[in-house]
Amino acid sequence: MLPSLLDIDAEVARPQIEALTAHIAEIATNHPVKHILDVGSGTGTGTFALLRRFPDATSTAVDTSADMLRHLTGAARQHGFGDRVRTLQADLDAGWPAVGPADLIWASSSIHHMADPDRVLREIRSTLAPGGLFVMIEMEAMPYFLPAGHADGLEGRCQAAASEAKAEHLPHIGSDWPARLEAAGLSVLEARLMTVELPAPLSEKAQLYAATVLGRYRTTLADRLSVADLAALDELLAPGALAALPGVTVRSTRDVYFAR
Ligand SMILES: C[S@@+](CC[C@H](N)C(=O)[O-])C[C@H]1O[C@@H](n2cnc3c(N)ncnc32)[C@H](O)[C@@H]1O
Repeated sequence: MLPSLLDIDAEVARPQIEALTAHIAEIATNHPVKHILDVGSGTGTGTFALLRRFPDATSTAVDTSADMLRHLTGAARQHGFGDRVRTLQADLDAGWPAVGPADLIWASSSIHHMADPDRVLREIRSTLAPGGLFVMIEMEAMPYFLPAGHADGLEGRCQAAASEAKAEHLPHIGSDWPARLEAAGLSVLEARLMTVELPAPLSEKAQLYAATVLGRYRTTLADRLSVADLAALDELLAPGALAALPGVTVRSTRDVYFAR
């Protein structure tokens, strides 16, 4: 995953993420949020949204990628959060770092990356302070952008090819997460869908999001798509083409689980 794509995703989904952190604040009333742990933090979307929501909290952002954490540290300074964020580079497949108890643990689109998500979920349970809350987000479906039927179903074929590629190296994607959370000793309080729906015409930022995801299909699925589909993607990715195509929207859904 590219740091720039995570940042655009954060901007496009900002109102939904704000609504989610507001809901967390409602649920977390019986337990003060002082220490947040962001598992697979990427560039810090969750960390920054939560630090804005909980002004007395600090966050530990854990990620295996030094590049992501470098990006996060720069952004933390820019947002004035420099002294409230600690980064920790750790491969959670290799073991659980010493992070101390956390009042709120956030894992967005990261648990399916783990080789053994069940072990990581058990570690999360042990790291939660008594009364603490775990919030886990997983992509429910890949985002859609193109008008129905464009290029005879191009986007559906891209998504099918992307799912096939992901299934090969991310076998846990689309798991029965509530069952796995419960098996790890976590009790699921609530599950909800987070939906991002942006109508046409898209803002420049949303167009960039669409172009970045479609561009990723072009580069990562070159050996899985037909010559005609690759040519159709090239056409869409030509300067100004997406902006000129009527009916380009953003439709994306994620599952959110709240557990104790
Ligand atoms: C799809 S990104 C999500 C980033 C961020 N949580 C967000 O929502 O924008 C997944 C992140 O998990 C991290 N990750 C993947 N495997 C990991 C592992 N074994 N240990 C720690 N981090 C990992 C990746 O480096 C990446 O930053």
